[in-house]
Amino acid sequence: MALPLPSCITVYALILQLLHLSSISNNVLTAAKHSYSASHHHHRSRHSHSHSPVPNPRLQQAYIALQAWKHVIYSDPQNLTTNWVGPSVCNYTGVYCAPAPHDPKTRVVAGIDLNHGDIAGFLPNELGLLTDLALIHLNSNRFCGIVPETISNLTLLYELDLSNNRFVGPFPTVILSLPTLHFLDLRFNEFEGPLPSELFKKNLDAIFVNNNRFTNVLPATLGGSSASVLVIANNNFGGCLPPSIASFAHTLEELLITNTSLSGCLPPEVGFLYKLRVLDVSDNKIIGPIPYSLAGLAHLEQLNIGHNMMSGLVPEGVCVLPSLKNFTFSYNFFCEEEGICMNLTSKGIVYDDRGNCLPEKPRQRSEKECRGVNEHPVDCFEYICHGGGSSFGGQAAAFAPAAMVVPSSSPLLSPSAAPSYT
Ligand SMILES: *[C@@H]1O[C@H](CO)[C@@H](O)[C@H](O)[C@H]1NC(C)=O
Ligand SMILES: *[C@@H]1O[C@H](CO)[C@@H](O)[C@H](O)[C@H]1NC(C)=O
Ligand SMILES: *[C@@H]1O[C@H](CO)[C@@H](O)[C@H](O)[C@H]1NC(C)=O
Ligand SMILES: *[C@@H]1O[C@H](CO)[C@@H](O)[C@H](O)[C@H]1NC(C)=O
Ligand SMILES: *[C@@H]1O[C@H](CO)[C@@H](O)[C@H](O)[C@H]1NC(C)=O
Ligand SMILES: *[C@@H]1O[C@H](CO)[C@@H](O)[C@H](O)[C@H]1NC(C)=O
Repeated sequence: MALPLPSCITVYALILQLLHLSSISNNVLTAAKHSYSASHHHHRSRHSHSHSPVPNPRLQQAYIALQAWKHVIYSDPQNLTTNWVGPSVCNYTGVYCAPAPHDPKTRVVAGIDLNHGDIAGFLPNELGLLTDLALIHLNSNRFCGIVPETISNLTLLYELDLSNNRFVGPFPTVILSLPTLHFLDLRFNEFEGPLPSELFKKNLDAIFVNNNRFTNVLPATLGGSSASVLVIANNNFGGCLPPSIASFAHTLEELLITNTSLSGCLPPEVGFLYKLRVLDVSDNKIIGPIPYSLAGLAHLEQLNIGHNMMSGLVPEGVCVLPSLKNFTFSYNFFCEEEGICMNLTSKGIVYDDRGNCLPEKPRQRSEKECRGVNEHPVDCFEYICHGGGSSFGGQAAAFAPAAMVVPSSSPLLSPSAAPSYT
Protein backbone atom coordinates (compact mmCIF):
# COMPACT_ATOMS: atom_id res chain seq x y z
CA MET A 1 0.00 0.00 0.00
CA ALA A 2 1.38 3.39 -0.83
CA LEU A 3 0.62 6.60 0.93
CA PRO A 4 -0.07 9.61 -1.19
CA LEU A 5 2.95 11.86 -0.99
CA PRO A 6 2.37 15.37 0.24
CA SER A 7 2.35 17.97 -2.48
CA CYS A 8 5.11 19.91 -0.84
CA ILE A 9 7.69 19.06 1.72
CA THR A 10 7.79 21.85 4.19
CA VAL A 11 10.17 20.52 6.76
CA TYR A 12 13.32 19.57 4.98
CA ALA A 13 15.37 19.73 8.14
CA LEU A 14 13.06 17.34 9.90
CA ILE A 15 13.35 14.87 7.09
CA LEU A 16 17.11 15.13 7.11
CA GLN A 17 17.21 14.53 10.80
CA LEU A 18 14.87 11.59 10.66
CA LEU A 19 16.87 10.06 7.85
CA HIS A 20 19.64 9.55 10.34
CA LEU A 21 17.49 7.33 12.46
CA SER A 22 18.04 3.82 11.32
CA SER A 23 15.32 2.51 13.60
CA ILE A 24 12.70 4.66 11.99
CA SER A 25 11.19 3.43 8.81
CA ASN A 26 9.89 5.27 5.79
CA ASN A 27 6.45 5.52 7.24
CA VAL A 28 7.76 7.87 9.86
CA LEU A 29 9.17 10.19 7.27
CA THR A 30 5.91 10.18 5.47
CA ALA A 31 4.15 10.69 8.74
CA ALA A 32 6.19 13.68 9.67
CA LYS A 33 5.82 15.14 6.21
CA HIS A 34 2.08 14.67 6.27
CA SER A 35 1.58 16.00 9.67
CA TYR A 36 3.74 19.02 9.26
CA SER A 37 2.68 19.98 5.81
CA ALA A 38 -0.94 19.64 6.81
CA SER A 39 -0.52 21.69 9.92
CA HIS A 40 -2.14 25.06 10.28
CA HIS A 41 -0.59 25.62 13.62
CA HIS A 42 -0.02 29.29 14.36
CA HIS A 43 1.89 30.79 17.17
CA ARG A 44 3.70 33.89 18.20
CA SER A 45 6.66 34.60 16.01
CA ARG A 46 9.67 34.66 18.17
CA HIS A 47 13.20 35.62 17.49
CA SER A 48 15.51 32.82 18.45
CA HIS A 49 19.15 32.11 17.82
CA SER A 50 19.90 28.60 16.69
CA HIS A 51 22.99 28.50 18.88
CA SER A 52 21.28 29.88 21.90
CA PRO A 53 21.81 27.70 24.94
CA VAL A 54 18.44 28.87 26.26
CA PRO A 55 15.73 26.61 24.87
CA ASN A 56 12.58 28.20 23.55
CA PRO A 57 9.34 28.00 25.57
CA ARG A 58 8.15 24.97 23.64
CA LEU A 59 11.30 23.04 24.46
CA GLN A 60 10.94 24.18 28.06
CA GLN A 61 7.44 22.76 28.06
CA ALA A 62 8.81 19.54 26.56
CA TYR A 63 11.42 19.46 29.31
CA ILE A 64 8.70 19.53 31.95
CA ALA A 65 6.84 16.74 30.16
CA LEU A 66 9.87 14.51 29.68
CA GLN A 67 11.04 14.95 33.27
CA ALA A 68 7.56 14.01 34.46
CA TRP A 69 7.70 10.97 32.21
CA LYS A 70 11.12 9.94 33.47
CA HIS A 71 9.76 10.24 36.99
CA VAL A 72 7.16 7.52 36.30
CA ILE A 73 9.60 5.15 34.61
CA TYR A 74 10.72 2.59 37.14
CA SER A 75 12.74 0.22 35.00
CA ASP A 76 14.88 1.08 32.00
CA PRO A 77 17.24 -1.86 31.46
CA GLN A 78 18.85 -0.34 28.39
CA ASN A 79 19.42 3.03 30.06
CA LEU A 80 17.59 4.82 27.25
CA THR A 81 16.38 7.57 29.53
CA THR A 82 19.55 7.84 31.60
CA ASN A 83 20.60 10.91 29.61
CA TRP A 84 17.19 12.54 30.03
CA VAL A 85 18.82 15.15 32.22
CA GLY A 86 18.97 18.91 31.80
CA PRO A 87 17.15 21.25 29.45
CA SER A 88 18.69 20.04 26.15
CA VAL A 89 15.79 17.72 25.41
CA CYS A 90 16.80 17.39 21.77
CA ASN A 91 19.83 15.45 22.94
CA TYR A 92 17.77 12.92 24.87
CA THR A 93 17.88 9.38 23.52
CA GLY A 94 14.70 8.62 21.61
CA VAL A 95 13.62 12.27 21.44
CA TYR A 96 13.72 13.91 18.02
CA CYS A 97 13.52 17.61 17.41
CA ALA A 98 12.73 19.48 14.23
CA PRO A 99 11.94 23.02 13.16
CA ALA A 100 8.37 23.94 13.92
CA PRO A 101 6.03 23.68 10.92
CA HIS A 102 5.49 27.38 10.33
CA ASP A 103 8.42 28.70 12.28
CA PRO A 104 11.63 27.08 11.04
CA LYS A 105 13.71 29.01 13.54
CA THR A 106 12.05 27.34 16.49
CA ARG A 107 13.01 23.78 17.25
CA VAL A 108 10.37 21.61 18.80
CA VAL A 109 10.03 17.98 19.91
CA ALA A 110 8.51 16.28 16.86
CA GLY A 111 9.00 12.61 17.61
CA ILE A 112 9.56 10.07 20.36
CA ASP A 113 10.86 6.65 19.48
CA LEU A 114 11.54 4.24 22.33
CA ASN A 115 10.80 1.08 20.34
CA HIS A 116 12.10 -2.14 21.89
CA GLY A 117 13.16 -0.30 25.04
CA ASP A 118 11.71 -2.81 27.50
CA ILE A 119 10.96 0.23 29.67
CA ALA A 120 8.48 -0.20 32.52
CA GLY A 121 6.42 2.74 33.66
CA PHE A 122 3.40 4.89 32.96
CA LEU A 123 2.40 7.64 30.59
CA PRO A 124 2.05 10.82 32.68
CA ASN A 125 -0.61 13.48 32.14
CA GLU A 126 2.20 15.87 31.25
CA LEU A 127 2.48 14.17 27.83
CA GLY A 128 -0.18 16.71 26.89
CA LEU A 129 2.54 19.34 26.96
CA LEU A 130 4.30 17.76 23.96
CA THR A 131 1.95 19.56 21.60
CA ASP A 132 4.34 19.43 18.64
CA LEU A 133 4.65 15.64 18.47
CA ALA A 134 4.02 14.05 15.09
CA LEU A 135 4.85 10.52 16.14
CA ILE A 136 5.06 8.35 19.23
CA HIS A 137 6.63 4.91 18.91
CA LEU A 138 6.60 2.77 22.03
CA ASN A 139 6.57 -0.75 20.57
CA SER A 140 7.81 -3.51 22.88
CA ASN A 141 8.05 -1.82 26.23
CA ARG A 142 6.32 -2.45 29.53
CA PHE A 143 4.26 0.69 29.80
CA CYS A 144 1.12 0.04 31.77
CA GLY A 145 -1.92 1.83 33.09
CA ILE A 146 -4.15 3.86 30.86
CA VAL A 147 -3.54 6.29 28.02
CA PRO A 148 -3.87 9.79 29.53
CA GLU A 149 -6.74 11.99 28.34
CA THR A 150 -4.31 14.87 27.96
CA ILE A 151 -2.97 13.47 24.70
CA SER A 152 -6.00 15.14 23.15
CA ASN A 153 -3.63 18.12 23.14
CA LEU A 154 -1.38 16.48 20.53
CA THR A 155 -3.16 17.95 17.56
CA LEU A 156 -0.29 17.23 15.16
CA LEU A 157 0.06 13.56 16.07
CA TYR A 158 0.16 11.49 12.92
CA GLU A 159 1.31 8.13 14.14
CA LEU A 160 0.67 6.44 17.49
CA ASP A 161 2.25 3.07 18.17
CA LEU A 162 1.59 1.69 21.65
CA SER A 163 1.93 -1.93 20.56
CA ASN A 164 3.24 -4.71 22.74
CA ASN A 165 2.92 -2.98 26.09
CA ARG A 166 0.66 -3.51 29.07
CA PHE A 167 -1.95 -0.86 28.65
CA VAL A 168 -5.31 -1.70 30.16
CA GLY A 169 -8.82 -0.33 30.28
CA PRO A 170 -11.41 0.34 27.62
CA PHE A 171 -10.49 1.49 24.15
CA PRO A 172 -8.77 4.87 24.70
CA THR A 173 -11.43 7.03 23.09
CA VAL A 174 -9.27 10.13 23.48
CA ILE A 175 -7.48 8.85 20.38
CA LEU A 176 -10.62 9.54 18.36
CA SER A 177 -10.19 13.25 19.00
CA LEU A 178 -6.76 13.49 17.38
CA PRO A 179 -7.43 15.31 14.14
CA THR A 180 -4.39 14.26 12.11
CA LEU A 181 -3.89 10.69 13.34
CA HIS A 182 -3.34 8.28 10.43
CA PHE A 183 -1.68 5.22 11.97
CA LEU A 184 -2.98 3.58 15.08
CA ASP A 185 -1.29 0.52 16.51
CA LEU A 186 -2.63 -0.87 19.78
CA ARG A 187 -1.63 -4.51 19.14
CA PHE A 188 -0.62 -6.76 22.01
CA ASN A 189 -1.96 -4.91 25.02
CA GLU A 190 -4.72 -5.64 27.49
CA PHE A 191 -7.40 -3.29 26.30
CA GLU A 192 -10.88 -4.64 26.82
CA GLY A 193 -14.51 -3.92 26.02
CA PRO A 194 -16.03 -2.92 22.70
CA LEU A 195 -14.42 -1.00 19.89
CA PRO A 196 -16.17 2.33 19.35
CA SER A 197 -17.85 2.62 15.96
CA GLU A 198 -16.23 6.07 15.58
CA LEU A 199 -12.90 4.27 15.15
CA PHE A 200 -14.07 3.11 11.76
CA LYS A 201 -15.14 6.58 10.71
CA LYS A 202 -11.79 8.22 11.30
CA ASN A 203 -9.41 9.02 8.51
CA LEU A 204 -6.95 6.27 9.48
CA ASP A 205 -4.72 4.46 7.01
CA ALA A 206 -4.07 1.51 9.28
CA ILE A 207 -5.84 0.10 12.32
CA PHE A 208 -4.11 -2.57 14.40
CA VAL A 209 -6.05 -3.66 17.46
CA ASN A 210 -5.21 -7.37 17.39
CA ASN A 211 -4.21 -9.37 20.45
CA ASN A 212 -6.13 -7.48 23.07
CA ARG A 213 -9.23 -8.39 25.03
CA PHE A 214 -11.76 -6.50 23.01
CA THR A 215 -15.20 -8.01 23.20
CA ASN A 216 -18.51 -7.63 21.44
CA VAL A 217 -19.38 -7.70 17.83
CA LEU A 218 -17.88 -5.43 15.29
CA PRO A 219 -20.01 -2.33 15.20
CA ALA A 220 -22.82 -2.73 12.67
CA THR A 221 -21.93 0.62 11.22
CA LEU A 222 -18.44 0.55 9.81
CA GLY A 223 -19.14 3.39 7.44
CA GLY A 224 -16.66 5.87 6.10
CA SER A 225 -13.38 4.24 6.99
CA SER A 226 -10.38 4.94 4.83
CA ALA A 227 -8.14 2.20 6.24
CA SER A 228 -6.15 -0.01 3.94
CA VAL A 229 -5.20 -2.41 6.70
CA LEU A 230 -7.54 -3.64 9.41
CA VAL A 231 -6.22 -6.22 11.86
CA ILE A 232 -8.53 -7.20 14.68
CA ALA A 233 -7.34 -10.79 15.12
CA ASN A 234 -7.04 -12.61 18.44
CA ASN A 235 -9.70 -10.79 20.38
CA ASN A 236 -13.00 -11.96 21.88
CA PHE A 237 -15.36 -10.35 19.40
CA GLY A 238 -18.07 -12.86 18.71
CA GLY A 239 -20.99 -11.98 16.49
CA CYS A 240 -20.93 -11.82 12.72
CA LEU A 241 -18.96 -9.92 10.17
CA PRO A 242 -21.45 -7.15 9.35
CA PRO A 243 -22.47 -6.51 5.73
CA SER A 244 -21.33 -2.93 6.31
CA ILE A 245 -17.78 -4.21 5.88
CA ALA A 246 -18.48 -3.21 2.27
CA SER A 247 -17.96 0.41 3.26
CA PHE A 248 -14.21 -0.30 3.32
CA ALA A 249 -14.35 -1.22 -0.35
CA HIS A 250 -12.42 1.68 -1.79
CA THR A 251 -9.40 1.36 0.48
CA LEU A 252 -9.13 -1.98 2.27
CA GLU A 253 -6.28 -4.22 1.13
CA GLU A 254 -5.69 -6.43 4.16
CA LEU A 255 -8.38 -7.75 6.46
CA LEU A 256 -7.25 -10.06 9.27
CA ILE A 257 -9.95 -11.25 11.66
CA THR A 258 -8.53 -14.62 12.65
CA ASN A 259 -9.51 -16.07 16.05
CA THR A 260 -12.20 -13.61 17.10
CA SER A 261 -15.12 -16.01 17.65
CA LEU A 262 -16.83 -14.75 14.50
CA SER A 263 -19.96 -16.73 13.78
CA GLY A 264 -22.68 -16.78 11.18
CA CYS A 265 -22.13 -16.85 7.44
CA LEU A 266 -19.63 -14.74 5.57
CA PRO A 267 -21.70 -11.92 4.09
CA PRO A 268 -21.54 -11.67 0.29
CA GLU A 269 -20.41 -8.05 0.84
CA VAL A 270 -16.90 -9.35 1.56
CA GLY A 271 -16.70 -9.84 -2.18
CA PHE A 272 -17.22 -6.08 -2.67
CA LEU A 273 -13.80 -5.37 -1.14
CA TYR A 274 -12.24 -5.30 -4.57
CA LYS A 275 -8.82 -4.10 -3.42
CA LEU A 276 -8.23 -6.94 -0.97
CA ARG A 277 -4.89 -8.69 -1.20
CA VAL A 278 -5.13 -10.56 2.10
CA LEU A 279 -8.28 -12.01 3.64
CA ASP A 280 -7.88 -14.08 6.77
CA VAL A 281 -10.97 -15.13 8.71
CA SER A 282 -9.46 -18.38 9.96
CA ASP A 283 -9.99 -19.89 13.41
CA ASN A 284 -13.53 -18.70 13.89
CA LYS A 285 -16.97 -20.30 13.97
CA ILE A 286 -18.11 -19.25 10.53
CA ILE A 287 -20.74 -21.48 8.98
CA GLY A 288 -22.28 -21.78 5.55
CA PRO A 289 -20.80 -21.60 2.06
CA ILE A 290 -18.06 -19.55 0.48
CA PRO A 291 -19.93 -16.60 -1.06
CA TYR A 292 -19.68 -16.66 -4.86
CA SER A 293 -18.95 -12.94 -4.70
CA LEU A 294 -15.37 -13.73 -3.61
CA ALA A 295 -14.76 -14.50 -7.28
CA GLY A 296 -14.64 -10.72 -7.77
CA LEU A 297 -11.52 -10.19 -5.67
CA ALA A 298 -9.09 -9.78 -8.53
CA HIS A 299 -6.16 -8.71 -6.34
CA LEU A 300 -6.57 -11.38 -3.69
CA GLU A 301 -3.27 -13.19 -3.02
CA GLN A 302 -3.81 -14.81 0.37
CA LEU A 303 -7.12 -16.37 1.32
CA ASN A 304 -7.39 -18.17 4.64
CA ILE A 305 -10.76 -19.51 5.76
CA GLY A 306 -9.28 -22.50 7.59
CA HIS A 307 -10.57 -23.76 10.95
CA ASN A 308 -14.18 -22.75 10.66
CA MET A 309 -17.38 -24.73 10.12
CA MET A 310 -17.98 -23.79 6.53
CA SER A 311 -19.58 -26.27 4.18
CA GLY A 312 -20.80 -26.77 0.64
CA LEU A 313 -18.56 -26.53 -2.37
CA VAL A 314 -15.33 -24.73 -3.07
CA PRO A 315 -16.34 -22.60 -6.07
CA GLU A 316 -14.19 -22.49 -9.17
CA GLY A 317 -14.56 -18.70 -9.30
CA VAL A 318 -12.27 -18.46 -6.27
CA CYS A 319 -9.73 -20.99 -7.56
CA VAL A 320 -9.25 -19.08 -10.81
CA LEU A 321 -8.68 -15.70 -9.15
CA PRO A 322 -5.80 -14.20 -11.13
CA SER A 323 -3.62 -13.14 -8.19
CA LEU A 324 -4.29 -16.01 -5.81
CA LYS A 325 -1.10 -17.54 -4.41
CA ASN A 326 -2.21 -19.26 -1.23
CA PHE A 327 -5.63 -20.69 -0.48
CA THR A 328 -6.14 -22.31 2.92
CA PHE A 329 -9.51 -23.89 3.53
CA SER A 330 -8.49 -26.73 5.82
CA TYR A 331 -10.58 -27.91 8.80
CA ASN A 332 -14.01 -27.03 7.53
CA PHE A 333 -16.74 -29.28 6.13
CA PHE A 334 -16.39 -28.69 2.40
CA CYS A 335 -17.64 -31.69 0.48
CA GLU A 336 -16.99 -30.75 -3.13
CA GLU A 337 -14.42 -28.91 -5.21
CA GLU A 338 -15.53 -27.33 -8.43
CA GLY A 339 -13.40 -27.74 -11.56
CA ILE A 340 -9.80 -26.63 -11.23
CA CYS A 341 -10.19 -26.39 -7.44
CA MET A 342 -9.49 -30.11 -7.44
CA ASN A 343 -5.99 -29.47 -8.76
CA LEU A 344 -4.69 -26.16 -7.43
CA THR A 345 -1.13 -27.41 -7.88
CA SER A 346 -1.62 -27.13 -11.61
CA LYS A 347 -2.25 -23.42 -11.11
CA GLY A 348 0.79 -22.98 -8.91
CA ILE A 349 -1.37 -22.11 -5.91
CA VAL A 350 -0.23 -23.16 -2.44
CA TYR A 351 -3.21 -24.71 -0.72
CA ASP A 352 -4.33 -26.62 2.33
CA ASP A 353 -7.47 -28.73 2.00
CA ARG A 354 -7.00 -31.05 4.98
CA GLY A 355 -9.72 -31.90 7.45
CA ASN A 356 -12.72 -31.44 5.18
CA CYS A 357 -15.21 -33.88 3.66
CA LEU A 358 -13.66 -34.08 0.20
CA PRO A 359 -14.05 -37.47 -1.40
CA GLU A 360 -10.84 -38.92 -2.83
CA LYS A 361 -8.64 -36.44 -0.95
CA PRO A 362 -6.35 -37.63 1.82
CA ARG A 363 -6.55 -36.53 5.46
CA GLN A 364 -10.25 -35.74 5.53
CA ARG A 365 -12.82 -35.98 8.31
CA SER A 366 -14.61 -39.19 9.10
CA GLU A 367 -17.67 -40.10 7.09
CA LYS A 368 -19.78 -39.87 10.23
CA GLU A 369 -18.76 -36.28 11.00
CA CYS A 370 -19.39 -35.27 7.42
CA ARG A 371 -22.76 -36.96 7.16
CA GLY A 372 -24.01 -34.90 10.10
CA VAL A 373 -23.30 -31.64 8.33
CA ASN A 374 -24.57 -32.77 4.96
CA GLU A 375 -27.88 -33.67 6.52
CA HIS A 376 -28.27 -30.14 7.85
CA PRO A 377 -27.14 -27.76 5.12
CA VAL A 378 -26.79 -24.18 6.32
CA ASP A 379 -29.28 -21.61 5.12
CA CYS A 380 -27.62 -18.28 5.77
CA PHE A 381 -30.97 -16.48 5.76
CA GLU A 382 -32.17 -18.69 8.58
CA TYR A 383 -29.67 -17.31 11.05
CA ILE A 384 -30.06 -14.04 12.82
CA CYS A 385 -26.89 -12.50 14.05
CA HIS A 386 -27.06 -11.65 17.68
CA GLY A 387 -24.85 -8.97 19.09
CA GLY A 388 -22.53 -9.53 21.98
CA GLY A 389 -21.70 -13.14 21.42
CA SER A 390 -21.78 -16.10 19.19
CA SER A 391 -25.39 -16.94 19.90
CA PHE A 392 -26.19 -18.88 16.81
CA GLY A 393 -28.68 -21.67 16.56
CA GLY A 394 -28.55 -24.36 13.96
CA GLN A 395 -26.95 -27.73 13.76
CA ALA A 396 -23.57 -26.68 12.49
CA ALA A 397 -22.35 -25.63 15.92
CA ALA A 398 -22.50 -29.24 17.00
CA PHE A 399 -19.70 -30.06 14.60
CA ALA A 400 -17.05 -27.68 15.80
CA PRO A 401 -13.66 -28.76 14.56
CA ALA A 402 -11.07 -29.57 17.15
CA ALA A 403 -9.13 -26.51 18.19
CA MET A 404 -5.70 -26.32 16.64
CA VAL A 405 -2.96 -23.78 16.97
CA VAL A 406 -2.15 -22.42 13.56
CA PRO A 407 1.28 -20.87 13.20
CA SER A 408 0.90 -17.37 11.92
CA SER A 409 2.66 -16.28 8.79
CA SER A 410 1.74 -12.63 9.18
CA PRO A 411 4.21 -10.28 10.83
CA LEU A 412 1.24 -8.20 11.95
CA LEU A 413 0.31 -10.99 14.28
CA SER A 414 3.63 -11.04 16.05
CA PRO A 415 4.22 -8.56 18.85
CA SER A 416 7.44 -6.85 17.90
CA ALA A 417 7.45 -6.82 14.12
CA ALA A 418 7.08 -3.45 12.52
CA PRO A 419 3.88 -3.36 10.54
CA SER A 420 4.15 -2.41 6.91
CA TYR A 421 2.57 0.99 7.06
CA THR A 422 3.78 1.95 3.61
C1 LIG B 1 22.71 0.58 32.60
O1 LIG B 1 23.29 1.28 33.66
C2 LIG B 1 23.59 0.45 34.78
C3 LIG B 1 24.09 1.33 35.94
O2 LIG B 1 25.01 2.25 35.47
C4 LIG B 1 24.63 -0.59 34.35
O3 LIG B 1 24.90 -1.45 35.41
C5 LIG B 1 24.06 -1.39 33.19
O4 LIG B 1 25.02 -2.29 32.70
C6 LIG B 1 23.62 -0.50 32.08
N1 LIG B 1 22.93 -1.28 31.05
C7 LIG B 1 23.19 -1.19 29.75
C8 LIG B 1 22.42 -2.08 28.84
O5 LIG B 1 24.02 -0.40 29.31
C1 LIG C 1 23.91 18.10 22.42
O1 LIG C 1 24.47 17.33 21.37
C2 LIG C 1 25.29 18.09 20.52
C3 LIG C 1 25.70 17.20 19.36
O2 LIG C 1 26.06 15.92 19.80
C4 LIG C 1 26.50 18.62 21.31
O3 LIG C 1 27.31 19.38 20.47
C5 LIG C 1 25.99 19.46 22.45
O4 LIG C 1 27.05 19.87 23.26
C6 LIG C 1 24.98 18.70 23.29
N1 LIG C 1 24.43 19.60 24.26
C7 LIG C 1 24.37 19.31 25.53
C8 LIG C 1 23.85 20.39 26.43
O5 LIG C 1 24.71 18.23 25.97
C1 LIG D 1 -2.04 21.72 26.09
O1 LIG D 1 -1.11 22.56 25.41
C2 LIG D 1 -1.03 23.89 25.86
C3 LIG D 1 -0.01 24.62 25.04
O2 LIG D 1 -0.08 24.31 23.71
C4 LIG D 1 -0.62 23.92 27.30
O3 LIG D 1 -0.61 25.26 27.78
C5 LIG D 1 -1.58 23.09 28.11
O4 LIG D 1 -1.13 23.04 29.46
C6 LIG D 1 -1.65 21.68 27.55
N1 LIG D 1 -2.64 20.93 28.28
C7 LIG D 1 -2.33 19.79 28.89
C8 LIG D 1 -3.47 19.13 29.57
O5 LIG D 1 -1.23 19.31 28.89
C1 LIG E 1 -7.14 -16.57 20.24
O1 LIG E 1 -7.67 -15.46 20.95
C2 LIG E 1 -7.67 -15.65 22.35
C3 LIG E 1 -8.26 -14.42 22.96
O2 LIG E 1 -9.49 -14.15 22.41
C4 LIG E 1 -6.26 -15.85 22.86
O3 LIG E 1 -6.28 -16.11 24.22
C5 LIG E 1 -5.60 -17.00 22.11
O4 LIG E 1 -4.26 -17.09 22.49
C6 LIG E 1 -5.69 -16.76 20.61
N1 LIG E 1 -5.13 -17.88 19.90
C7 LIG E 1 -4.07 -17.74 19.12
C8 LIG E 1 -3.64 -18.99 18.39
O5 LIG E 1 -3.47 -16.70 19.00
C1 LIG F 1 -0.21 -20.15 3.12
O1 LIG F 1 -1.14 -19.62 4.07
C2 LIG F 1 -1.16 -20.33 5.30
C3 LIG F 1 -2.26 -19.74 6.15
O2 LIG F 1 -2.17 -18.36 6.25
C4 LIG F 1 0.19 -20.23 5.97
O3 LIG F 1 0.19 -20.95 7.17
C5 LIG F 1 1.25 -20.78 5.03
O4 LIG F 1 2.52 -20.58 5.61
C6 LIG F 1 1.20 -20.07 3.70
N1 LIG F 1 2.14 -20.71 2.78
C7 LIG F 1 2.90 -20.01 1.97
C8 LIG F 1 3.85 -20.79 1.13
O5 LIG F 1 2.84 -18.79 1.87
C1 LIG G 1 -2.91 -31.78 -11.75
O1 LIG G 1 -2.44 -31.09 -12.90
C2 LIG G 1 -1.13 -31.42 -13.26
C3 LIG G 1 -0.65 -30.51 -14.36
O2 LIG G 1 -1.69 -29.84 -14.99
C4 LIG G 1 -1.09 -32.90 -13.69
O3 LIG G 1 0.23 -33.28 -14.02
C5 LIG G 1 -1.58 -33.74 -12.52
O4 LIG G 1 -1.67 -35.08 -12.90
C6 LIG G 1 -2.94 -33.27 -12.04
N1 LIG G 1 -3.29 -33.98 -10.82
C7 LIG G 1 -4.46 -34.54 -10.66
C8 LIG G 1 -4.68 -35.26 -9.35
O5 LIG G 1 -5.33 -34.52 -11.51
